[in-house]
Amino acid sequence: MEHRALPRLAAPAVAALLAVTTACTGGTVQGRPGASGLRDPYFPKAGNGGYQVEHYALDLDYDPADGVLHGRAVITARAEQGLSSFNLDLSGLHVEGVDVDGEGARFNRTGNELTVRPADDVKKGRVFRTEVVYSGRPKALTDADGSREGWITGEAGAVGVGEPVGSMTWFPGNHHPSDKAAYDITIRVPRGYEAVSNGELRFRTEGADGRTQFAWHSPEPMASYLATAVVGPYKVTTGRTPSGVAVYNAVSPEEAAASEPTLARLPEMVEWGSGRFGPYPFGTAGAVVLPAGTLAYALETQTKPVYPGAPGDESLVLHELAHQWFGNSVSPKSWKDMWLNEGFATYAEWLWDEDHGGPTAQEHFDALLAGDTDVDEAADAGWDAFPPADPPGPEDISASPVYQRGAMVLQRIRQEVGDEKFFGLVRGWAADHRHGNASTADFTAYAEERTGHDLKKVWDVWLYGKARPK
Ligand code: ARG
Ligand code: ZN
Repeated sequence: MEHRALPRLAAPAVAALLAVTTACTGGTVQGRPGASGLRDPYFPKAGNGGYQVEHYALDLDYDPADGVLHGRAVITARAEQGLSSFNLDLSGLHVEGVDVDGEGARFNRTGNELTVRPADDVKKGRVFRTEVVYSGRPKALTDADGSREGWITGEAGAVGVGEPVGSMTWFPGNHHPSDKAAYDITIRVPRGYEAVSNGELRFRTEGADGRTQFAWHSPEPMASYLATAVVGPYKVTTGRTPSGVAVYNAVSPEEAAASEPTLARLPEMVEWGSGRFGPYPFGTAGAVVLPAGTLAYALETQTKPVYPGAPGDESLVLHELAHQWFGNSVSPKSWKDMWLNEGFATYAEWLWDEDHGGPTAQEHFDALLAGDTDVDEAADAGWDAFPPADPPGPEDISASPVYQRGAMVLQRIRQEVGDEKFFGLVRGWAADHRHGNASTADFTAYAEERTGHDLKKVWDVWLYGKARPK
């Protein structure tokens, strides 16, 4: 489907026109189409080639009564090649119009690809601004492992969650973790509702139209799977950690009492994490507790993890907090590197236990090897099913080997190099890749260089080996 009012030219006419353009400009500025996917090993069509986004400004208007989202996305990006066209990922919804640098652009849609053809080619190196106006009832996606992601609606609200690819159900973008950007997310909702997103609340205004507008600002780079927008009748509490990080918690009223004891420990956890891993990477922290039954899992959405009901257990809050260093600040280069998120976040739970009178990390490791669920309740979850750096398919990227065996890899490194070098490695990893992207190969090279140890056996047996390590 081709939209927009520009005259449609037959192919020979286009070729003739291009030839003229080429003649006029010396033939060196010709753009070509940006790739429609980044060939991620598990999600080959996720993300797009030819540009990197610097900033997303999302203006969203959502009414829980009818479930209709009106959106305007202004995407500021830098062209990495001359672009005659480029793609954004978008699933469902109706695109009303697209402008590039203020000029109407042609666009068409195939599957989850929105192809934009600007009136003039975008030159390599240029920063350009794409505005997409869209609307409709966003539809959630069902992942390969059967879980739901994307725009999830509940009885009295909605939440956008995007790991690995669900963010394309609520805004157009370059939806792959390798392209991180700053965000400003503004959400307008009927009065009486709260709207929560990543980062800092810049302002909240009651409009004369009976709607409240919330403007959220995320200055640090964010992978699009970590973006969230939450609408509902939440109870908001704010505070600060001892060292001054602002905390914003939005809790579904019926979950408030049960959430209190675990969320009360969040400030202390931020300080503990800063001691263990280095400075907290973001300006704000917090949590969103969804009404029970909305979602089946917690997600480490940047600065404000979402919980599927009251977090019953402090380990879960610690896990999502640890992702702010591992996953959110240091993000995977591809979805194959997911163990760098989950192995580290699981290991952080073990360390928290170790530092707070619970089992040590070595005891967690031993319990997994022995299948002892009294010490580690994940001991029978199948950590040995596949090597963490090589999940068999997209349905496996959130399975136990990525979490538990990923953490066991880290404990194996600690066994080899000793505590001092191990904690130096963990802090160095967080510091040297802060607000960046890293792959498994980056990690194994870094670990050997930083510790001065040959760790090949650990990689061969624990990270890549198909057999169950002994
Ligand atoms: N990354 C989330 C966490 O560990 C879990 C996401 C689970 N997703 C899924 N499709 N199973 O906190
Ligand atoms: Zn996790």
